[in-house]
Amino acid sequence: MAYWENLVAEYRERTPTSETLHEETREHIPSGVASTSRQFDPYPFYIDHSDGVYLEDVDGNRYLDYDMNNGAGLCGHTHPKITAALHDQLDEGTLYTMPHGLLAEAATELKKRWSALEKVRFTNSGTEATMHAIRMARAYTGRDKLLKIEGTYHGVHDYVMVSGTPPKGKAGHPNRPMKVADGHGIPDKTVETVEIAPFNDLEATEDIMRDNINEIGAFIVEPVMLNKSVTPPQQDYLEGLKDLCDEYGIVLIFDEVKTGVKVAPGGAAEYYGVQPDMVTMAKSIGGETSVGAFGGSDAIMDQISNDYAWHYGTYNGNPFVLRALVTALRDVLTDDAYQHVNKLGEQMKSGYEDVIEDAGITGQVRNVNSQGMVQFTDANITNYREFMANINDDFHRLFWFGMVNQGIIPHPYGARQQWTISVQHTEEHVDETIEAFKNIAPTLADEQESWH
Ligand SMILES: Cc1ncc(COP(=O)(O)O)c(C=O)c1O
Repeated sequence: MAYWENLVAEYRERTPTSETLHEETREHIPSGVASTSRQFDPYPFYIDHSDGVYLEDVDGNRYLDYDMNNGAGLCGHTHPKITAALHDQLDEGTLYTMPHGLLAEAATELKKRWSALEKVRFTNSGTEATMHAIRMARAYTGRDKLLKIEGTYHGVHDYVMVSGTPPKGKAGHPNRPMKVADGHGIPDKTVETVEIAPFNDLEATEDIMRDNINEIGAFIVEPVMLNKSVTPPQQDYLEGLKDLCDEYGIVLIFDEVKTGVKVAPGGAAEYYGVQPDMVTMAKSIGGETSVGAFGGSDAIMDQISNDYAWHYGTYNGNPFVLRALVTALRDVLTDDAYQHVNKLGEQMKSGYEDVIEDAGITGQVRNVNSQGMVQFTDANITNYREFMANINDDFHRLFWFGMVNQGIIPHPYGARQQWTISVQHTEEHVDETIEAFKNIAPTLADEQESWH
């Protein structure tokens, strides 16, 4: 406990202006943050500005950043090409609510990356993307039920806020998880339309499909669980899901909000070689602007053209965000850029692993290219239950604050997150990160002993 108290004392000493600003902001904004995941104890540090791979806080502390906007920053902050394009676009207008040439350009960039996409529509967030994809799938199949994976996060509309983080006593049998609303305000009737399957378990999934035969219209899956650290699909799992969905007449949606354009240019669909029926995207497609998208076959997406299933929105596909998207996908996230971040991903993994071994820490690194995470356990986590049984959030925060106090944000706050290595990071940045980890590794090893 002494180590934690020392870390907090040091953090407070470094960030007095953040503490004052937090107190003030909390008077006006619940928890003082714009999205609840950004709140942590004793208080979050407040940012003054970003620059390349750095964030600077209101006390003038500079941080080497691998939070990267919760995974939305594969291009890094203030990328010169994107910044220049956005300056131009500011002069040409940021909102027309009339169609414009960037719509087809942006759609074409996405279609080059996912062969599942024949048509796409743009949204303002990942939440809107998953909400509309699910609506399209339900309309297309004429079935109301949604199947989702236990422990996954797909945004904050009601239908996906079921069993995102079910507490132990309420979660039910691992093969047949209970449906648990994530917080209050979600009607029981909504929860009733959702079925929950364990990740990486085709047999249990088929049982659920069979028991709900002709009722499930949509199955939404995050192909790598990037909201439970880095939990990849096992061999043949995604192919198996596609086969099951085809057999049971269910529209398979890959939620690639986090994986999309990051684990490979064409997301997890490309990385694992499985194209779903629909894809949802957001975060890194937008080069730091707020844009999402959903798409699939002509048959599914033309329900919108026919006014059979609706998609509307004042800000959808505005020229400001699409200019950023086109610049990011065409000019920044090139083949060379992927080679660069993937190489750094391996350097980061082996760097952390060496220190873990030398210091005698029980731990490992899981990664898929630019996405990775240290886990302070030897367990091979394959689903939500195993994550909950083996990951200790309280211990993990010793690592996080130990790094933050040295000016490195190793990943977004929380053991369920992962780092993003951006195109602007370099080998030297990774070396610096591993050096910082070396500094705290002996203490973490001692702490781990005493926590057991
Ligand atoms: C897999 C996944 N889907 C959907 C969302 C929601 O995206 P947004 O925060 O843009 O609404 C997130 C956000 O973290 C996500 O990780």
